[in-house]
Amino acid sequence: MPTLEDNKHFWGNEYGWPSLGEEWSADWGGSFMQWYGTILPRIAAYVPTGTILEIACGCGRWTQYLKNVCRHLIAVDLSPRCIEVCKRRFGDEARIEFHVNDGTSLRMVPEASVDLVFSFDSLVHADASVLTAYLSELPRILKRTGVAFIHHSNLGEYARLYASINKIPWLEKWLQMFKVLEQDLHGRDFSVDARRVETWAAKYGLTCISQEIIGTTKLWLDCLSTLVQQDSPLARPNRVLRNKAFVQEKANLKALSWLYGPNN
Ligand SMILES: C[S@@+](CC[C@H](N)C(=O)[O-])C[C@H]1O[C@@H](n2cnc3c(N)ncnc32)[C@H](O)[C@@H]1O
Repeated sequence: MPTLEDNKHFWGNEYGWPSLGEEWSADWGGSFMQWYGTILPRIAAYVPTGTILEIACGCGRWTQYLKNVCRHLIAVDLSPRCIEVCKRRFGDEARIEFHVNDGTSLRMVPEASVDLVFSFDSLVHADASVLTAYLSELPRILKRTGVAFIHHSNLGEYARLYASINKIPWLEKWLQMFKVLEQDLHGRDFSVDARRVETWAAKYGLTCISQEIIGTTKLWLDCLSTLVQQDSPLARPNRVLRNKAFVQEKANLKALSWLYGPNN
């Protein structure tokens, strides 16, 4: 997996950011459809709110919507270039702060100050060391009633399967050729999955209240975990859903964007 330095270099120097991240929303018919059709319904119970912390904001694909559902937004990213772009893009709004961080810590965020921690389409590439570092910071920065909504890898579920397959040098390519295995693992990390996140959360004083496991037609690649403080009034036994309909949800939104997208 790429190191934090590799990430900083890639997002800061190699990646062209042709549409400031909008390019990754093409399958939804644009970020507007993805935000209103996929993301907002999953966090609607927690917004509008006071303070939102966005981890790994990139060039602001979600920042542009998050800023409208809170009074104060703190956004961090390990790439100085992304933070520069965001400052230029949203800079005239005093209630929004941007910080370059080291890729693991949230020292710039005061204690018990955050109502919603949000991260989408970034920590899917993070490994266990990054995920645990961020999870360990959340109990300090979240208010007692605060919530974290984190999109992360679920590829760890298949770590043993892939380890066995990779013992035979030609097998992975062969299984891909016959469409048994996924062609592209989309940079997801094998050291993270829903179960592990639930366990790490508990170790650091958090409770997972829901985990939506999503993916492609062949693999449950990702997970959306919602976490709260262990003494939060929102704490409850975890609810885990493998959402097969996610692929269809995406396709429907893309179809609807033709009628309802902002550029039509
Ligand atoms: C695929 S982009 C997504 C950006 C944004 N979340 C979006 O969806 O448009 C990944 C971003 O995560 C940032 N990033 C990667 N690893 C990070 C880490 N450990 N901590 C903070 N930022 C990170 C990169 O610098 C890059 O801006």
